[in-house]
Amino acid sequence: MNEISAPDIVGHQTPRIDGEDKLTGRATYTADWHVTGMLHGYPVPATIAHGTLEALELDESRAMPGVVDILHHRHFPQLHRSPNSMKHGDHVSEVRLPFEDERIYYHGQYIALVVAETFEQARAAALCVQARYRRDPDAMPGLAQSDDQGVEVDRYCRGEPDVAFGMAPVILDETYTIAPESHMQLETHVTLAEWHEREGRLVVHESTQGVFYQRNAMARIFDLPLECVEVISPYIGSGFGNKLFMWPHAVATAAAARLLGRPVKTVLPRQQDMMNAGNRPASRQRIRLGADSEGRLLSIHHDSISETSTVDRHVDACGGATPSAYACNSVVTSQRVLEVHHGTPCPMRAPGEVSGLFALESAIDELALALDMDPLTLRLKNYAHSDPQRGLPWSSKQLDRCLEGAAERFGWSARDPRIGAMRDGDEIIGQGMASATWFAGRQPCEARVELRGDGSVFVACGTQDIGTGTYTIIAQAVAELTGVTVPRIEVKLGETSLPAGPLSGGSMTTASTLPAVAAAVRDALDALKALATREDGVFAGADPASLGVTQGALVADERGAGFAEILGRHRLGSVSGKGSAAPGEERRQYSFRSFGAHFVEVRWDPGISRLRVARVVSSIDVGRAVNPLAARNQVEGAIAMGIGMGLLERLEYDPRDARLINANLSDYRVPVHADMPEIDVELLDYPDFRFNEFGARGIGEIGLTGIAPAIANAVHHATGKRVRDLPISIETLLDSPLIMT
Ligand code: MOS
Repeated sequence: MNEISAPDIVGHQTPRIDGEDKLTGRATYTADWHVTGMLHGYPVPATIAHGTLEALELDESRAMPGVVDILHHRHFPQLHRSPNSMKHGDHVSEVRLPFEDERIYYHGQYIALVVAETFEQARAAALCVQARYRRDPDAMPGLAQSDDQGVEVDRYCRGEPDVAFGMAPVILDETYTIAPESHMQLETHVTLAEWHEREGRLVVHESTQGVFYQRNAMARIFDLPLECVEVISPYIGSGFGNKLFMWPHAVATAAAARLLGRPVKTVLPRQQDMMNAGNRPASRQRIRLGADSEGRLLSIHHDSISETSTVDRHVDACGGATPSAYACNSVVTSQRVLEVHHGTPCPMRAPGEVSGLFALESAIDELALALDMDPLTLRLKNYAHSDPQRGLPWSSKQLDRCLEGAAERFGWSARDPRIGAMRDGDEIIGQGMASATWFAGRQPCEARVELRGDGSVFVACGTQDIGTGTYTIIAQAVAELTGVTVPRIEVKLGETSLPAGPLSGGSMTTASTLPAVAAAVRDALDALKALATREDGVFAGADPASLGVTQGALVADERGAGFAEILGRHRLGSVSGKGSAAPGEERRQYSFRSFGAHFVEVRWDPGISRLRVARVVSSIDVGRAVNPLAARNQVEGAIAMGIGMGLLERLEYDPRDARLINANLSDYRVPVHADMPEIDVELLDYPDFRFNEFGARGIGEIGLTGIAPAIANAVHHATGKRVRDLPISIETLLDSPLIMT
């Protein structure tokens, strides 16, 4: 006998509604699309990082089986650069058009696109393209190889940091560096472009975090009205920021499709995805802290420089979280960028702040040691009860509960603070902690809802689900408002033909979409109530406002009538509603952020020089987790990514010529299952109703902030080595004072 299960409403663990489709392969990722007459594109990457392309030898490739055409600088249509405006939603990751000139700005830059009947034919011919270059000698391999100070792009200051620092009895002045990292999302970038010339329409399938941004940029570049471009992205194998804004492969593919009069699909191989589609740039950060002898922060200086390319200016704003992180009257942050000959960097999961918090939360740990104070105590002592940057109250901040709760579950009070004092057999145990934080934002969003004659509900929104569970949370919100169960709710996302939805970025999707969906549901319910209270309606004569909604039915007093019954009576297939939502006045009254705490245990085996993360205990405050199942999954994934950042991941550029050495999954190390620690994630449940009616802030990014410094702090506790350079390599630990036994 079936038990009636509780409806999967907001705040309840709900299995992903797209889970079965993904598991069985029914879910169509962009590379899965095949259209009649489709050709395959395969880009040819430059093999130098800085110079000029002098000649391309294409005859051999052209003669190869299946090759239809090869696009390059001298054989490419005249296009328009996107105005590249964030405000107008046509921002692109690289503003330079493909093959625009013969200069080479970075290793891997596309010098040609081979188009052939099959993927294998295109790849084979691409590998046979010969290029002759003139190398320029002064390739800039990276921040680490240069003392160039770049240019300042941002500065924030309050109080009198220089004076306060000069007078502080306890000071710290240290520099932290982070290697460039690859997003390494499971699904590489893919474009399938199809022109319908008779209607003057371009249809693009793309694995993207922003179908509308790509539509707008494509329309600008190909000089088409917005309504003549459609971008489709129903399933995405993650993005982490590198799929927020369009890259040149998409433009090259669309241009090829138009030129050849046939659809073209380009699937980037992993190497090209790593070279040409963004990275988290290297950064160098100097932190100066001034404190009194009780541990009260008197000043914070946070001066950062990050890499950008010579083609575009990307800023990894490392100091973003610093002005609001601690109660401190005197704070200065500055940000510089340095042009290097790498592919253009881009946002990567909690961009800027995740880098910045490595430096800041390491420095706080160092200050605690200098003060002989517990690092948790020091953080609580400098707790920012309101936002010191904006001078506003927090909408909701439970960081103290995160810190104390995670400390309790971790067993922090049993920690012996002496370096290397905690042992387990051959292993030395190190325990460290750090705070996590990420801004909470919202974007405008629209949605459409249909209550259907069969009792089901259809919801449409032009945002996309990048793998985080957007389909499911939207269904949960509809279930909560209608009482219709999740299996009877159909959610459609990821198309520009749907009501305008936001980028899946900045952990803003949940807070942006759910209020719009709710407004659309109410609008549809109003239409249904109007129908039901008509003269010939089920509730003839009743006041529409007096009708309640429960379990897919309208109710008044003792009577109830299902949505389907009401629609059936009026011979209607459905009623629909529209809704929109945007951030409002609350922005002026409160500061919105999410918070968390990570406690990490590492194990260092000095006999065999093995370092591993053994245990992570995290408490995360994101208001209400709409779907705790998916939310916990996000934090666990972020912890895995943080272990990569802390211990493994580093894009290596040849210091002689700026070529990327390890653009593949065998030489670029990412954490694997064997690297995974025991993970214990607690999601606090303090709904933030000042932020939106569901009380939900975002969760995608916050989990990554604070992991790398918590690891570095734990490594110091185990080994006595303060590593200020990510990733932490075993080599750095070999002269640990604790190596000898
Ligand atoms: Mo996120 S870096 O805004 O995808």
